[in-house]
Amino acid sequence: MNYKQALTNNIFQIIGKSADELGLETYVIGGFVRDFFLNRGTAKDIDIVAIGSGIELAKKVASNLKGEPKISVFKNFGTAMIKHNGIELEFVGARKESYDRDSRNPAVESGTLQDDQMRRDFTINALAFSINSKTFGDLKDPFQGITDLENKLLRTPLDPDTTYSDDPLRMMRAVRFATQLGFTIALPSLQSITDNKERLKIISQERIVDELNKIMLTPKPSLGFSLLHKTGLLDIILPELTALQGVEEIEGQRHKDNFWHTLEVVDNICPNTDDLWLRWAALLHDVGKAPTKKFHKKLGWTFHGHEFVGSKMVYRIFKRLRMPLNDKMKFVQKIVLMSSRPIVLSEDYVSDSAVRRLVFEAGDNVEDLMTLCEADITTKNEKKQRKYKNNFKIVREKIIEVEERDRVRNFQPPISGEEIMATFDLKPSKEIGIIKDYIKEAILEGEIPNEFDAAKALMLKKGNELGLKIKSI
Ligand code: CTP
Repeated sequence: MNYKQALTNNIFQIIGKSADELGLETYVIGGFVRDFFLNRGTAKDIDIVAIGSGIELAKKVASNLKGEPKISVFKNFGTAMIKHNGIELEFVGARKESYDRDSRNPAVESGTLQDDQMRRDFTINALAFSINSKTFGDLKDPFQGITDLENKLLRTPLDPDTTYSDDPLRMMRAVRFATQLGFTIALPSLQSITDNKERLKIISQERIVDELNKIMLTPKPSLGFSLLHKTGLLDIILPELTALQGVEEIEGQRHKDNFWHTLEVVDNICPNTDDLWLRWAALLHDVGKAPTKKFHKKLGWTFHGHEFVGSKMVYRIFKRLRMPLNDKMKFVQKIVLMSSRPIVLSEDYVSDSAVRRLVFEAGDNVEDLMTLCEADITTKNEKKQRKYKNNFKIVREKIIEVEERDRVRNFQPPISGEEIMATFDLKPSKEIGIIKDYIKEAILEGEIPNEFDAAKALMLKKGNELGLKIKSI
């Protein structure tokens, strides 16, 4: 498709007509134009830049659209937004400078199209199509953005130190676009990110996490994490992860590099889940290994309790990054806490009762846990790899079998505390807990089925052992 045809969408005609009526030179700019050349499907937002007032243009466009949609005006930023057919149209007047260096307040000094293009983040995001009727479809590419698209290169229109200092989030955006698009960050840019990394500290955690999540949702997040690591940004965002890097050797014994292992696990899980939170669980599943690492003369390297320590760290990391402290965080904590459980199963003979306990404790998250554990196999020893994979296959089959037979997921013991109290005429007391645990253990061990009659018989037996008398009716 010729790029002029890309603009035949009715909305561009309406914006163009509105711009002509106001005598405003107007362009489509940014992600829409970039994605059009990259064939990346339809954009959810379209950025429009007017050489003059973007807000005036938005008002005119709204009055020319059917139903006169509502405009959201952000006066401080000199921008306005209209939602139309599920697309967000963002209007802005061309500006000279993006931010006041010290206060970080947006500056709204008007400028030419080229002024506006040169203060954007990357040459590939500075491409603009004219939409005024006389020049409709003309491409404005003063910084060779098309050549950079062809060479898959992320380059800043200005000296990278200027572009990144203007808005340090752009350092994260560089990494994110490189990961999403498979582009290379130009060397001077990469150097500039390394030099300016400390400036990221002035950016809000929410904006940083937004970019991090976009990296997490690509098919190969390790590309982004390697770049974050190489530039030093990762040390600022997630020092708990970089703390996993390195291999130590004592008395000829080495442990694996848990940082690169983690990135491999995250990549491995991606083809099997699009769930952002399961991917986060993969990223954080070993974070507890740095603080728990010890060398024992007999045992070699150990990471005792790293799952528990790791799950506590999840809370602290989420809190610091201002991520949601809700069910999603609890899910990540639970997966991290249980992350070694299936591995123990996979190394050994897989018994029914071990699987039953796993299903009981993991509940509805058991499949996600298995997906993580399968991704956790990063051994290069093919024999071991085959063995682990096969054992996980057996675990998965047994999960289904045990589920069908014993229904232990979200397990509620078939005998309630009230029932025990009524049977033995007891007030709330420790005996009730003892009997309940006894029944639960017997079911999980497979000694009795998960059924009322069998559980009742066991309750009577245990009550008798504890010297309890059955209440006479
Ligand atoms: N932009 C910028 N610096 C930023 C953010 C945005 O220069 N920190 C400019 C870029 O020209 C970008 C445009 O604003 O193309 C729109 O930004 P945004 O909607 O955030 O990104 P897109 O490029 O549209 O890409 P995506 O939708 O994938 O985020």
